[in-house]
Amino acid sequence: MTQEYAKLIIDGKTYEFPIIVGTEGERAIDISTLRKETGLITFDPGYANTGSCKSSITFMDGEKGILRYRGYPIEQLAEHSTFVETAYLLINGELPTRKQLNRFSVLLNDHSMVHEDMRHFFQSFPRRAHPMGILSSMVNALRAFYPEIPERSEEEEINVTVTRLLSKVRTMAAMSYKISRGHMVVYPRHDLSYAANFLNMMFHSPVRPYVIDDDLVDALNVFWILHADHEQNCSTAAVRLVGSARVNLYAAISAGICALWGPLHGGANQAVIEMLLQIQENGGDVRPFIERAKDKNDPFRLMGFGHRVYKTYDPRAKIMQKICYKVLKKLKRHDPLLDIARKLEEVALKDPYFIDHNLYPNVDFYSGIVLRALGIPLNMFTVMFAIGRLPGWISQWKESMEDPQWKLHRPRQIYIGVGEREYIPIDKREE
Ligand code: ACO
Repeated sequence: MTQEYAKLIIDGKTYEFPIIVGTEGERAIDISTLRKETGLITFDPGYANTGSCKSSITFMDGEKGILRYRGYPIEQLAEHSTFVETAYLLINGELPTRKQLNRFSVLLNDHSMVHEDMRHFFQSFPRRAHPMGILSSMVNALRAFYPEIPERSEEEEINVTVTRLLSKVRTMAAMSYKISRGHMVVYPRHDLSYAANFLNMMFHSPVRPYVIDDDLVDALNVFWILHADHEQNCSTAAVRLVGSARVNLYAAISAGICALWGPLHGGANQAVIEMLLQIQENGGDVRPFIERAKDKNDPFRLMGFGHRVYKTYDPRAKIMQKICYKVLKKLKRHDPLLDIARKLEEVALKDPYFIDHNLYPNVDFYSGIVLRALGIPLNMFTVMFAIGRLPGWISQWKESMEDPQWKLHRPRQIYIGVGEREYIPIDKREE
C-alpha cells in the first residue's frame, strides 16, 4: 500500500505527515515530528483526538459498539471464557492451552496469600475509609513487602509480580471487607476457582458457611471479563503514564486504582446505585432526574450514561443487563432498582437530548444491580471493577515497557499566565 500523507500549511509552507493505519482501518496522522519541523504543538484537552500509543490488545469501535480483546469479541468471551483465561489472553496475547491454563491457575493459587504483617495496615485505616483508597495504598505497599530479588531475571520478576498482583489484590479486597466489618479474615482455598475463592473469602464465616453457587460464580466471571480491558481509558492511561517514568508495576497499578476511583470513571458503578436509590426514595419517578440531567445549570448527570468512545449502546451494558436478569432469577429475587433502571433507560433513549448527544447506557448502568444481588456492599463496587481491570492494566503496562517507540509521557501546554515580572518584597506588596 502506498504511504498516504496529510498536508499541513503554516505561514504558506507545506509540511507532510504520514498517515498510519491500524488493522481495523483506523487512520491517524503521525505528528511525532510536528514540533521539530514546525515549532508548533497540538492542543487537545482531554486527549479525545490523540492516539498515545500503538496497541495490539483491545479493539473498540465506539460508533458500531464493538469490543474485542486480542481479536475475540467480548460477547464470545463472556459466554465461553473465565476471568482467569481472559486475563491470560490479555497478558500473553493468546488463549492458553489446557496445560498453560493449569500452570497459570497453580501460580495464582501459590501467590494468593497476603503477608501477615500487612494485616496491621488494614486494621489501622479508619473504619469509614473508602476501600478504593485502602486498595491503592495497599497495592503500593506490596513493593515493600515483596521487594525485587536481584538474582531473578527481569522476565521472571515481571511474571511473579503479575501473578502476585492478580491473586493478592483479590485476597486483599476481601480481607479489607472482612476487617472493615470486624470479622475474622477468611484465607484463600486451594480447591476453589479464582471467582469462587473471592466469594468465599467475602462471605464465609465460621457460624454461617458460604455455599458456593456455580451460577453466581459464572456471573462474577462475566462481570470481571466485561471489565478486563478497555484500551486507553482514564485509569489505563494513568498506568501507562506513571509506568512511563519506569516506576515499579505496583506503583503504576496503584495510580490506575486512584484514577478508577473517580465517579466519572469506575466510581460510576457506585454512583449509579446511589442515583437509583435516590429516585426510589423520591417515589420512583424518573422524569425529574432526566430533566435535571438535561439542565445545564445543574451539575447532575445521569450516572451510567454516556461514554467518551461509545456513541451507541455499550456492548458490555447489553451483556450486563442479561446477567442482571439471570442472577435475580437464580436468586428468586426482585430488585426494584432494576425496574427503575429500565424505566430510566426507556425514557432517556426516547428523549431528544440523549438522542442528540448519543448518550446510551454504559457498562456501569447495570453492573451495580448484579453486584448488589451477589451481596457486594456498595462501597466495594469500584473495588470489584478494579479487580476486573487488573489484567488490562498489566497487559497495557507490559506492552508499553516492550514498545520500541517507548517514551517518557510528558505532554506540553499552552501557557496563558502572566508574562515575566519583577519579584516584589513582602513589605512593598499591596494589601
Ligand atoms: N448525563 C447528562 N448529560 C451528559 C452525560 C450524562 N451522563 N454525559 C455527557 N453528557 C453531555 C454533556 O453535558 C455534554 O453536553 P453539551 O455538549 O451540551 O455541553 C455532552 O454530553 C458531552 O459531554 P462530555 O462530558 O464532554 O463528554 P465526555 O466524552 O467527556 O464524557 C463521560 C464521557 C465522562 C463518561 C460522561 O458521559 C459522563 O459524565 N457520564 C456519567 C458518568 C459515567 O457513567 N461514567 C462511566 C463511564 S464508563 C467508565 O468509565 C467505565
